[in-house]
Amino acid sequence: MSIPVVTGGAGFIGSALVRALLAHGAPRVAVIDNLSSGKEANLAEVRGRVELHVADIRDYSRIAPLLQGAPVVYHLAAIPSVPRSISDPVPSHEANIDGTFHVLRACVDGRVGRVVYAASSSAYGDTEVLPKSESMAPRPRSPYALQKLTGEYYCAVFTSCYGLETVSLRFFNVFGPRQDPSSPYSGVLSIFMKRLLERRPPVIFGDGEQSRDFTYVEDVAELCLKAARAPAAVVSGNVYNAGNGRRYTLNETWRLLCRMEGVEIGPEYGPPRPGDVRHSQADTAAAVRDLGHAPRFSFEEGLRRTLDWYRSTL
Ligand code: UD1
Repeated sequence: MSIPVVTGGAGFIGSALVRALLAHGAPRVAVIDNLSSGKEANLAEVRGRVELHVADIRDYSRIAPLLQGAPVVYHLAAIPSVPRSISDPVPSHEANIDGTFHVLRACVDGRVGRVVYAASSSAYGDTEVLPKSESMAPRPRSPYALQKLTGEYYCAVFTSCYGLETVSLRFFNVFGPRQDPSSPYSGVLSIFMKRLLERRPPVIFGDGEQSRDFTYVEDVAELCLKAARAPAAVVSGNVYNAGNGRRYTLNETWRLLCRMEGVEIGPEYGPPRPGDVRHSQADTAAAVRDLGHAPRFSFEEGLRRTLDWYRSTL
């Protein structure tokens, strides 16, 4: 296959990446997705230029022929969510560790040019120092964090042992259009926006003073493309933060959203969530230096665009 492949390409981030690839000149993009959380509808207006393969990354013999000869494989397929990995660890272990292993194995066997892997900021856990830089020792606090970290290690080992080019990007709390707000495991901003448009208070877990480096999905997609193009001698086998470099508490984020919508709704508070990281903020220096990372969307601009999208679809 001589076109790029996106595993998890029918998902929220994957479908934004498919759009970015097409916008940057790829004639077609292949998507591997088991549609467990991804949806064909996420690809609606680009569907004619997408080869959608409904396949599971845990099935080596099914995915190997689909990855064969791809110039780049963007490996985003995963079962996300820290709390889901705690309450139901087996499926996320199998998708995030076993699935990643099978994707990497198939990429070696199929002589794939490069793998760009969606790693997670959760690998850092709670660090004393902010922002978090790639040289810090990881301290995973949940099965999900450990699974995503294992995927990074597998990428680096596949580079050193088998010569497969890999780049791991630690995504920092990505948000934007098409993030599904309907599950208790959904990303917090998708839930906040749904509540806001319904004029209902959100439930904040803990005191709301935890903070996140919320990153707009198009900036992450752009960085994936840069990771695919950067010189192998510089980037292969490495891990980079894919964040914005700033952080916002949940309390201030909810207030900001209320202000944007011109309403005043006080949040409700619930018990803190197990496995939760307190603060998260990316040091973007290495990604700027090696990949040319240049996020274009301020937090407010990203929120505005996302809110507009939910308003038009919910
Ligand atoms: C973590 C990772 C992120 C990864 C994501 C995958 C960190 C710092 N980030 O996100 O990189 O992409 O897993 O799922 O580990 N919350 C509420 N009310 C809600 C929902 C959530 O208060 O209704 C709180 C959570 O307790 C948490 C924050 O909002 O403090 C963010 O939660 P969520 O959006 O689920 O993402 P993380 O677990 O931070």
